[in-house]
Amino acid sequence: MRAWRRGHSGSAGFVPTMGYLHEGHLALVRRSCEENLHTVVSIFVNPAQFGPGEDFERYPRDEVRDLELLRECGVDAVYLPSAAEMYPHGYQTVVDVQRVARPLEGSARPGHFRGVTTVVLKLLNAVEPDRAYFGRKDAQQLRVVQRMVRDLDMAVEVVPCEIVREPDGLAMSSRNVYLSPEQRAAAPVLYRALCAARESYSAGERDANALRGLVGDLIYPTPGAEIEYISLADDRELDEIEGVITRPALLSLVVRFGQTRLLDNVELG
Ligand code: PAJ
Repeated sequence: MRAWRRGHSGSAGFVPTMGYLHEGHLALVRRSCEENLHTVVSIFVNPAQFGPGEDFERYPRDEVRDLELLRECGVDAVYLPSAAEMYPHGYQTVVDVQRVARPLEGSARPGHFRGVTTVVLKLLNAVEPDRAYFGRKDAQQLRVVQRMVRDLDMAVEVVPCEIVREPDGLAMSSRNVYLSPEQRAAAPVLYRALCAARESYSAGERDANALRGLVGDLIYPTPGAEIEYISLADDRELDEIEGVITRPALLSLVVRFGQTRLLDNVELG
Protein backbone atom coordinates (compact mmCIF):
# COMPACT_ATOMS: atom_id res chain seq x y z
CA MET A 1 0.00 0.00 0.00
CA ARG A 2 2.74 2.41 0.94
CA ALA A 3 4.68 1.64 -2.25
CA TRP A 4 1.57 2.51 -4.27
CA ARG A 5 1.13 5.75 -2.36
CA ARG A 6 4.77 6.74 -2.83
CA GLY A 7 4.30 6.23 -6.58
CA HIS A 8 1.23 8.52 -6.71
CA SER A 9 2.02 12.10 -5.79
CA GLY A 10 -0.76 14.65 -5.30
CA SER A 11 -3.65 14.75 -2.87
CA ALA A 12 -5.15 11.47 -1.74
CA GLY A 13 -8.53 10.89 -0.12
CA PHE A 14 -9.19 7.74 1.88
CA VAL A 15 -12.42 5.94 2.78
CA PRO A 16 -12.02 3.14 5.33
CA THR A 17 -14.84 0.54 5.20
CA MET A 18 -15.71 -2.99 6.25
CA GLY A 19 -17.15 -3.70 2.79
CA TYR A 20 -20.57 -4.91 1.68
CA LEU A 21 -20.82 -1.44 0.19
CA HIS A 22 -24.03 0.56 -0.14
CA GLU A 23 -24.91 4.11 -1.23
CA GLY A 24 -23.81 5.45 2.18
CA HIS A 25 -20.25 4.22 1.58
CA LEU A 26 -20.35 5.29 -2.07
CA ALA A 27 -21.35 8.85 -1.12
CA LEU A 28 -18.11 9.08 0.89
CA VAL A 29 -16.18 7.59 -2.03
CA ARG A 30 -17.67 10.00 -4.58
CA ARG A 31 -16.94 12.97 -2.36
CA SER A 32 -13.34 11.84 -1.98
CA CYS A 33 -13.03 11.45 -5.75
CA GLU A 34 -14.31 15.02 -6.20
CA GLU A 35 -11.99 16.53 -3.61
CA ASN A 36 -8.73 14.65 -4.26
CA LEU A 37 -6.51 13.65 -7.16
CA HIS A 38 -6.46 10.04 -5.91
CA THR A 39 -8.93 8.03 -3.85
CA VAL A 40 -8.08 4.93 -1.86
CA VAL A 41 -10.73 2.72 -0.23
CA SER A 42 -9.97 -0.01 2.30
CA ILE A 43 -12.09 -3.08 2.90
CA PHE A 44 -11.25 -4.85 6.13
CA VAL A 45 -13.69 -6.52 8.50
CA ASN A 46 -11.70 -5.68 11.59
CA PRO A 47 -11.90 -8.50 14.16
CA ALA A 48 -10.55 -6.20 16.91
CA GLN A 49 -13.70 -4.04 16.96
CA PHE A 50 -16.13 -6.95 17.41
CA GLY A 51 -16.83 -8.27 20.89
CA PRO A 52 -17.21 -11.94 21.80
CA GLY A 53 -20.63 -13.14 20.63
CA GLU A 54 -21.01 -10.28 18.14
CA ASP A 55 -21.46 -10.73 14.39
CA PHE A 56 -17.81 -10.87 13.17
CA GLU A 57 -18.16 -14.33 11.58
CA ARG A 58 -21.47 -13.62 9.91
CA TYR A 59 -20.74 -9.99 8.95
CA PRO A 60 -21.87 -9.75 5.29
CA ARG A 61 -19.09 -9.90 2.69
CA ASP A 62 -19.09 -9.57 -1.12
CA GLU A 63 -15.66 -8.58 -2.34
CA VAL A 64 -16.36 -9.09 -6.05
CA ARG A 65 -19.38 -6.79 -6.03
CA ASP A 66 -17.58 -4.23 -3.82
CA LEU A 67 -14.64 -4.04 -6.23
CA GLU A 68 -16.99 -3.62 -9.19
CA LEU A 69 -18.82 -0.75 -7.45
CA LEU A 70 -15.52 0.94 -6.60
CA ARG A 71 -14.28 0.53 -10.17
CA GLU A 72 -17.45 2.27 -11.41
CA CYS A 73 -16.77 5.16 -8.99
CA GLY A 74 -13.28 5.57 -10.43
CA VAL A 75 -11.38 4.68 -7.27
CA ASP A 76 -7.60 4.46 -7.83
CA ALA A 77 -6.71 1.76 -5.32
CA VAL A 78 -8.41 -0.62 -2.93
CA TYR A 79 -6.50 -1.86 0.11
CA LEU A 80 -7.60 -5.30 1.31
CA PRO A 81 -5.26 -6.38 4.09
CA SER A 82 -5.71 -9.75 5.73
CA ALA A 83 -6.19 -10.08 9.50
CA ALA A 84 -2.75 -11.77 9.69
CA GLU A 85 -1.13 -8.77 7.98
CA MET A 86 -2.90 -6.33 10.28
CA TYR A 87 -2.31 -8.24 13.50
CA PRO A 88 0.67 -10.55 12.98
CA HIS A 89 1.88 -12.92 15.65
CA GLY A 90 3.18 -10.90 18.60
CA TYR A 91 1.03 -7.85 17.91
CA GLN A 92 0.48 -5.88 21.16
CA THR A 93 -0.22 -2.16 20.56
CA VAL A 94 -3.58 -0.37 20.84
CA VAL A 95 -4.91 3.18 20.63
CA ASP A 96 -7.36 3.99 23.39
CA VAL A 97 -9.28 7.28 23.27
CA GLN A 98 -10.62 8.09 26.72
CA ARG A 99 -13.64 10.23 27.59
CA VAL A 100 -15.55 10.55 24.32
CA ALA A 101 -15.21 6.80 23.66
CA ARG A 102 -16.74 5.80 27.01
CA PRO A 103 -20.52 6.42 26.82
CA LEU A 104 -23.09 5.03 24.33
CA GLU A 105 -21.46 2.53 21.96
CA GLY A 106 -18.38 2.51 24.18
CA SER A 107 -20.37 1.23 27.13
CA ALA A 108 -22.68 -1.02 25.07
CA ARG A 109 -19.71 -2.60 23.24
CA PRO A 110 -16.66 -2.67 25.55
CA GLY A 111 -13.41 -2.50 23.57
CA HIS A 112 -15.20 -1.57 20.33
CA PHE A 113 -13.65 1.87 19.91
CA ARG A 114 -10.21 0.63 20.91
CA GLY A 115 -10.49 -1.73 17.94
CA VAL A 116 -11.73 1.06 15.67
CA THR A 117 -9.07 3.63 16.57
CA THR A 118 -6.27 1.07 16.42
CA VAL A 119 -7.21 -0.10 12.94
CA VAL A 120 -7.97 3.41 11.65
CA LEU A 121 -4.55 4.60 12.82
CA LYS A 122 -2.88 1.62 11.12
CA LEU A 123 -4.84 2.18 7.90
CA LEU A 124 -3.97 5.88 7.90
CA ASN A 125 -0.30 5.01 8.43
CA ALA A 126 -0.41 2.66 5.45
CA VAL A 127 -2.31 4.96 3.08
CA GLU A 128 -0.94 8.35 4.23
CA PRO A 129 -3.94 10.28 2.85
CA ASP A 130 -4.48 14.04 3.01
CA ARG A 131 -8.17 13.57 3.84
CA ALA A 132 -10.17 10.74 5.39
CA TYR A 133 -13.94 10.48 5.00
CA PHE A 134 -16.26 9.31 7.78
CA GLY A 135 -20.07 9.13 7.90
CA ARG A 136 -22.19 10.92 10.50
CA LYS A 137 -24.19 7.67 10.70
CA ASP A 138 -21.59 6.52 13.23
CA ALA A 139 -21.64 9.83 15.09
CA GLN A 140 -19.60 8.70 18.08
CA GLN A 141 -17.04 6.92 15.90
CA LEU A 142 -16.56 10.19 14.00
CA ARG A 143 -15.94 12.11 17.22
CA VAL A 144 -13.59 9.44 18.59
CA VAL A 145 -11.54 9.46 15.37
CA GLN A 146 -11.45 13.28 15.33
CA ARG A 147 -10.19 13.21 18.92
CA MET A 148 -7.47 10.66 18.11
CA VAL A 149 -6.28 12.64 15.07
CA ARG A 150 -6.05 15.80 17.12
CA ASP A 151 -4.48 14.20 20.19
CA LEU A 152 -1.84 12.27 18.23
CA ASP A 153 -0.96 15.18 15.87
CA MET A 154 -1.88 13.16 12.81
CA ALA A 155 -1.45 14.89 9.45
CA VAL A 156 -4.88 14.09 8.03
CA GLU A 157 -8.07 16.10 7.67
CA VAL A 158 -11.13 14.19 8.87
CA VAL A 159 -14.10 15.01 6.63
CA PRO A 160 -17.56 14.28 8.12
CA CYS A 161 -20.23 13.22 5.58
CA GLU A 162 -24.03 13.31 5.84
CA ILE A 163 -26.10 10.19 6.52
CA VAL A 164 -27.51 8.51 3.41
CA ARG A 165 -30.99 7.04 3.91
CA GLU A 166 -33.38 4.69 2.13
CA PRO A 167 -36.45 6.46 0.65
CA ASP A 168 -38.44 5.53 3.79
CA GLY A 169 -35.84 7.12 6.08
CA LEU A 170 -33.95 4.04 7.32
CA ALA A 171 -30.25 4.87 7.52
CA MET A 172 -28.32 2.67 5.10
CA SER A 173 -26.20 0.02 6.80
CA SER A 174 -24.53 -3.23 5.79
CA ARG A 175 -26.39 -4.83 8.71
CA ASN A 176 -29.84 -3.99 7.26
CA VAL A 177 -29.63 -7.27 5.29
CA TYR A 178 -30.07 -9.12 8.60
CA LEU A 179 -33.64 -7.76 8.94
CA SER A 180 -36.63 -9.97 8.16
CA PRO A 181 -39.29 -8.39 5.87
CA GLU A 182 -41.41 -7.56 8.96
CA GLN A 183 -38.47 -6.01 10.79
CA ARG A 184 -37.43 -4.08 7.68
CA ALA A 185 -40.98 -2.69 7.37
CA ALA A 186 -40.95 -1.55 11.01
CA ALA A 187 -37.40 -0.12 11.03
CA PRO A 188 -38.20 3.36 9.63
CA VAL A 189 -39.80 4.16 13.00
CA LEU A 190 -36.31 5.06 14.28
CA TYR A 191 -35.90 8.00 11.93
CA ARG A 192 -39.58 9.01 12.24
CA ALA A 193 -39.13 9.26 16.00
CA LEU A 194 -35.86 11.20 15.69
CA CYS A 195 -37.52 13.62 13.25
CA ALA A 196 -40.47 14.12 15.61
CA ALA A 197 -38.03 15.05 18.37
CA ARG A 198 -36.12 17.37 16.06
CA GLU A 199 -39.39 19.12 15.14
CA SER A 200 -40.30 19.47 18.80
CA TYR A 201 -36.82 20.92 19.46
CA SER A 202 -37.26 23.37 16.58
CA ALA A 203 -40.61 24.40 18.04
CA GLY A 204 -38.79 25.34 21.25
CA GLU A 205 -38.73 22.21 23.44
CA ARG A 206 -35.46 22.25 25.43
CA ASP A 207 -36.16 19.66 28.12
CA ALA A 208 -33.86 16.70 27.48
CA ASN A 209 -36.10 14.19 29.28
CA ALA A 210 -39.15 15.32 27.31
CA LEU A 211 -37.32 14.79 24.00
CA ARG A 212 -35.90 11.38 25.01
CA GLY A 213 -39.39 10.45 26.22
CA LEU A 214 -41.01 11.51 22.96
CA VAL A 215 -38.65 9.26 20.97
CA GLY A 216 -39.21 6.35 23.35
CA ASP A 217 -43.00 6.70 23.25
CA LEU A 218 -43.01 6.54 19.44
CA ILE A 219 -40.71 3.50 19.21
CA TYR A 220 -41.89 1.52 22.24
CA PRO A 221 -45.17 0.21 20.71
CA THR A 222 -43.41 -1.10 17.56
CA PRO A 223 -43.66 -4.91 17.51
CA GLY A 224 -40.23 -6.56 17.62
CA ALA A 225 -38.39 -3.33 18.44
CA GLU A 226 -36.32 -3.36 21.63
CA ILE A 227 -34.86 -0.03 22.68
CA GLU A 228 -31.26 -0.43 23.87
CA TYR A 229 -30.66 3.26 24.54
CA ILE A 230 -31.93 6.71 23.65
CA SER A 231 -29.36 9.41 24.34
CA LEU A 232 -29.48 13.16 24.22
CA ALA A 233 -25.92 14.24 24.79
CA ASP A 234 -23.61 17.19 24.49
CA ASP A 235 -22.52 17.31 20.84
CA ARG A 236 -18.77 17.34 21.59
CA GLU A 237 -17.90 15.12 24.53
CA LEU A 238 -21.18 13.17 24.44
CA ASP A 239 -21.95 13.76 28.13
CA GLU A 240 -25.63 12.94 28.70
CA ILE A 241 -27.73 16.09 29.19
CA GLU A 242 -29.92 16.21 32.28
CA GLY A 243 -32.39 19.08 32.33
CA VAL A 244 -32.27 21.92 29.84
CA ILE A 245 -30.45 21.85 26.48
CA THR A 246 -28.35 24.98 26.08
CA ARG A 247 -25.78 23.88 23.48
CA PRO A 248 -25.70 21.83 20.28
CA ALA A 249 -26.66 18.25 21.09
CA LEU A 250 -26.65 14.79 19.57
CA LEU A 251 -29.84 12.74 19.79
CA SER A 252 -28.85 9.13 19.13
CA LEU A 253 -30.31 5.70 19.69
CA VAL A 254 -29.85 2.00 19.28
CA VAL A 255 -32.88 -0.20 18.71
CA ARG A 256 -32.60 -3.97 18.41
CA PHE A 257 -34.76 -6.04 16.10
CA GLY A 258 -33.96 -9.60 17.17
CA GLN A 259 -30.14 -9.82 17.08
CA THR A 260 -29.76 -6.82 14.79
CA ARG A 261 -28.70 -3.51 16.34
CA LEU A 262 -29.86 -0.47 14.37
CA LEU A 263 -28.08 2.81 15.08
CA ASP A 264 -29.28 6.28 14.09
CA ASN A 265 -28.98 9.90 15.15
CA VAL A 266 -29.88 13.51 14.41
CA GLU A 267 -28.09 16.66 15.49
CA LEU A 268 -29.99 19.35 17.40
CA GLY A 269 -28.95 22.99 17.18
P1 PAJ B 1 -18.45 0.63 7.94
O1 PAJ B 1 -19.57 0.33 8.85
O2 PAJ B 1 -18.25 -0.19 6.70
O3 PAJ B 1 -18.59 2.14 7.51
C1 PAJ B 1 -17.58 2.77 6.74
C2 PAJ B 1 -17.89 4.26 6.70
O4 PAJ B 1 -19.14 4.48 6.02
C3 PAJ B 1 -18.04 4.89 8.09
O5 PAJ B 1 -17.41 6.16 8.12
C4 PAJ B 1 -19.55 5.02 8.24
O6 PAJ B 1 -19.94 6.05 9.12
C5 PAJ B 1 -19.95 5.31 6.82
N1 PAJ B 1 -21.38 5.00 6.61
C6 PAJ B 1 -22.00 3.82 6.83
N2 PAJ B 1 -23.32 3.93 6.55
C7 PAJ B 1 -23.53 5.21 6.17
C8 PAJ B 1 -24.69 5.96 5.77
N3 PAJ B 1 -25.90 5.41 5.71
N4 PAJ B 1 -24.52 7.26 5.44
C9 PAJ B 1 -23.28 7.84 5.51
N5 PAJ B 1 -22.17 7.19 5.87
C10 PAJ B 1 -22.29 5.90 6.20
O7 PAJ B 1 -17.41 2.24 10.23
C11 PAJ B 1 -16.75 1.27 9.87
O8 PAJ B 1 -17.04 0.54 8.73
C12 PAJ B 1 -15.53 0.77 10.63
O9 PAJ B 1 -15.70 1.04 11.99
C13 PAJ B 1 -14.20 1.40 10.11
C14 PAJ B 1 -14.18 2.92 10.27
C15 PAJ B 1 -13.95 1.01 8.65
C16 PAJ B 1 -13.02 0.83 10.95
O10 PAJ B 1 -12.99 -0.55 10.88
